Amino acid sequence: MARIVSKECCSIAAMKPSAPHDRIPVLIDCDPGIDDALALMVAAKYTAIAGITTVAGNVPIEHTTNNALSLCELLDLRVPVHQGAAGPLGGDHVTAEHVHGDTGLGNLHLSQPTTQIRTDDAVTFLNQHFLRNPGTRLIALGPLTNVALLLRQHPQVAEYIGGITFMGGSAFGSGNVTASAEFNIFADPEAADIVFKSTVPLEMVGLNLTHQVLMGERHGALLDKTNPISSAAITLLQSYQHLIASGSGVFDVPMHDPSAVLAVSHRELFGFKSRHVMVELQGDLTRGQTVVDERRTTREANMDVAYDVDIDSAITAIQSALS
Ligand code: BDR
Ligand code: CA
Repeated sequence: MARIVSKECCSIAAMKPSAPHDRIPVLIDCDPGIDDALALMVAAKYTAIAGITTVAGNVPIEHTTNNALSLCELLDLRVPVHQGAAGPLGGDHVTAEHVHGDTGLGNLHLSQPTTQIRTDDAVTFLNQHFLRNPGTRLIALGPLTNVALLLRQHPQVAEYIGGITFMGGSAFGSGNVTASAEFNIFADPEAADIVFKSTVPLEMVGLNLTHQVLMGERHGALLDKTNPISSAAITLLQSYQHLIASGSGVFDVPMHDPSAVLAVSHRELFGFKSRHVMVELQGDLTRGQTVVDERRTTREANMDVAYDVDIDSAITAIQSALS
């Protein structure tokens, strides 16, 4: 399948939300992670999840996998979970317990899962799934290690992937883990480089977008505490807000990974522009930074970058999924 990127910026004001949404079949690669957990709740409501793969990221792989299994049980999601990479292709292994808590879900402590991973070979699962189900879209919510390994070990699979929507990077060059780099890209820049240089149709949902979709405890307060999924979402939102806001919890926090899911399920709420995006692999201050070429004159676009979102509708859609 050839890379197709949109020619023009789409104006979200000109687009009407369509309802009800078709549930698009997706694979989800994730590192739960508080906002990954919220994203799985959103994906469970609005997409048809065909499988989940885990990657080391916010916390080590044993925790991200355990959390994925527990979340599937909470959400009654009967989908295969395949464990993936335990560390990056290059550079140091970085984690983010200061944002997600020691085991990855803040103060949410779910029961130990009774189900088990289907395999510990996410790459083989992804390859086989795409070959059997060409055109399936992948939503990548963590470091791009599994995706890069897939493309490196099975280059022909690129033709079968319907597209990859990833949460990572930023269009404006500022970061959250360093001044210049966003966590998912910083955690494995070499992997991002492989993915960005592939022929797969890519969509980037970066910090420039996710910092517009802000939620917190006050949104959780509107959910039904007696429902186990809503109750878990309330705890996740509380934990996230308090951890990110350094204990103060006074400001709302970005819905990074849920926004990437909505960019697939509620595409009409987002405005994308075609851009050439590279990742910096070297700089002492800039390793892991996504460099988005705004000139549009010199290099052909290699992905669509999300710039605009109908914020109120996005928050309403997330809240509705958490209810
Ligand atoms: C991204 O990094 C992780 O901490 C979050 O889960 C999200 O995927 C935001 O930079
Ligand atoms: Ca994540």
